[in-house]
Amino acid sequence: MMDGSLLNQPLAAVDTPALVVDYDLLMANIQRLQTACDAAGLQLRPHIKAHKTPEVAHLQLQAGAVGVTAAKLGEAEVMATAGVPDIFIANQIVGETKLRRLVALARRVPKLSVAVDSLEVAAPMSEALTAAGQTLDILIEVDHGAARCGVPPEETVAFAQALAPLQGLRLVGLMAYAARSYVGDWEQRRAFCRQEGAELAALAGELRAAGFPITRLSGGSTPAGPCYEPNCGLTEIRSGTYCLNDHNQVDLGTCTRAEVAATVLATVISRPAPDRAILDAGTKALDQQVGKLTAGYGWLLDPPDANVVKINDEHGYLDERGASLRVGDKVRIIPPRICTCLNLYDWMVVVQEGRVRDIWRIAARGRNT
Ligand SMILES: Cc1ncc(COP(=O)(O)O)c(C=O)c1O
Repeated sequence: MMDGSLLNQPLAAVDTPALVVDYDLLMANIQRLQTACDAAGLQLRPHIKAHKTPEVAHLQLQAGAVGVTAAKLGEAEVMATAGVPDIFIANQIVGETKLRRLVALARRVPKLSVAVDSLEVAAPMSEALTAAGQTLDILIEVDHGAARCGVPPEETVAFAQALAPLQGLRLVGLMAYAARSYVGDWEQRRAFCRQEGAELAALAGELRAAGFPITRLSGGSTPAGPCYEPNCGLTEIRSGTYCLNDHNQVDLGTCTRAEVAATVLATVISRPAPDRAILDAGTKALDQQVGKLTAGYGWLLDPPDANVVKINDEHGYLDERGASLRVGDKVRIIPPRICTCLNLYDWMVVVQEGRVRDIWRIAARGRNT
């Protein structure tokens, strides 16, 4: 349990390892993408898998987000308990246990929607909802080149027709996962967004011609977020990482280091050799994913660019750029991927101008089912 007496204390008073979020950067990131979405006429439905924290979701909603996106039922349940009225689960929900939870969730969320990409997913869902006397909005997940889940685009109309007899499911839209927007060049990202919008809009046209009243076209990601033009074809985007950012986004050029709101605070616990500084942050504090584009488990804000080159369970090894550090020094580390790193922490220490402003529970952390 984080100690409430930390409020107003300097960051140095926070024990480590800790997940630290800079409030002003968080707010600026939220506002920047909201402004871009407003300018493009797009609704923003932030993916909460990146922050997993009700307080952050409410800040996004206050800034103008239409609702939130979740990857897991557990995340959606946490957001429902926090009073979020419009939740989209952008994933396939499989198995009786989850369907029981889905039915219960649908009772308490005014606007709940889910993705489906097969009859194997849709038919049991239809049965569970019908038995409970409920109807749920569904979006067909289309594979727009991500090669993950999703119906091949050319099979979308036939799939919609196969769904039509299933009671309890109301087809309202299409969603696609924008994996191909993860390219390190603004022009390529803008081209991706044009293509994504055009292709989903064309599919929606085919569905409407076949009698399906499609109103939601959901795409997007953090790299794609600021790259949409007005009338792009989509109605909403689901960027998630953008509010905190991470080193993968820095590497891609979608944000600068100065726009990364989330860091791991760690302490130098040993200087056993002139070229070796050891931190109290290993796999349980930094995650095991290395950066996609540059190697390493995390980058220090100060000394700039010092890199965590190796991690054990409880220890992080700094490269030679950490040689100026002494035992007891505290450092802030930009993790390569915030989604999985943040999932290691129960609490988010929110700082403003170097002092602890708030301590928020990362309530959906570990809600992996
Ligand atoms: C279905 C879906 N939508 C949106 C996102 C958000 O993407 P990003 O992390 O680029 O913000 C993700 C991320 O993995 C996702 O899986």
